[in-house]
Amino acid sequence: MGRVAYVNGRFVAQRDAQVSIEDRGYQFADAVYEVWSLFGGKLADSEGHFARLERSLGEIAIPMPMSRRALILVLKEAVRRNRVREGLVYLQVSRGVAPRDHPFPKTPVPPAVVITVSAVDRAASEARAAKGVGVVTTPETRWGRCDIKTVGLLPNVLAKQKAREAGAVEAWFVDELGFVTEGGSSNAWIVDRDGRLRTRDTNANILRGVTRRTLMEVIATEGLEVDERPFTPADAHAAREAFITGAGTLVLPVVSVDGKPVGEGKPGPLATKLRRLYIEQAKATAI
Ligand code: PDD
Repeated sequence: MGRVAYVNGRFVAQRDAQVSIEDRGYQFADAVYEVWSLFGGKLADSEGHFARLERSLGEIAIPMPMSRRALILVLKEAVRRNRVREGLVYLQVSRGVAPRDHPFPKTPVPPAVVITVSAVDRAASEARAAKGVGVVTTPETRWGRCDIKTVGLLPNVLAKQKAREAGAVEAWFVDELGFVTEGGSSNAWIVDRDGRLRTRDTNANILRGVTRRTLMEVIATEGLEVDERPFTPADAHAAREAFITGAGTLVLPVVSVDGKPVGEGKPGPLATKLRRLYIEQAKATAI
């Protein structure tokens, strides 16, 4: 069975799905997106992703295309039609279709909505997590509103291509003060040399990761603390462990940064445990 996409009110065979060449998402990256992971056909961390979607849209003055309730029904129907149990749901909302002109259309147009669903091979993901992945560092080149989840991802694309060419899975952006901000599509964490969990605070120019947020709750339940203090690549080299979080990667151990091993160069015990606990929590609360 082929994949099914939702495009502006209709479910269509994905290979036939089309959007207008004057969609403002296509011409200006005037669009935002969200990604949910799916466990057993259910949306993980749904509240956090909906809240962030509404915030991203609000920050760039695009109305919600439909109520949250209606959107949940459409997302679930997309999942059902694709018969995916373990996977990812992608939602993109653009300002809509209008003749090319930079300011918002004078006469408002309806936002354009696209939803796709893809399957994830959990066994392969677990095998990757058990091995750990490498990251490379790259200078921070993004705009000042990385808290908005826009589809303007060219710096992320280039950074992640650099990672791939180096045999790594993620790129960590490093700001002008030498601190890691976040990954190309994930948040960055270390367990520092003193055993403290560290990740960048969300007042910095980063995305407020939903997986990051849920993991913080899991960490608190474990009686552990998170130090939201920036760290440098050198701190990561000296760290006991490192990992990344995101809807695509969940909690994924990092074993090298720029080719140099982190800790013993294998997935750390805390990162491995937090992955398991996060997945348990995500499964238990998925809708
Ligand atoms: N990326 N930082 C960036 C730049 C991201 O693009 C993402 C998510 C995250 C992690 O956020 P969350 O935990 O809410 O998924 C952090 C998605 C998965 C993507 O672009 O595919």
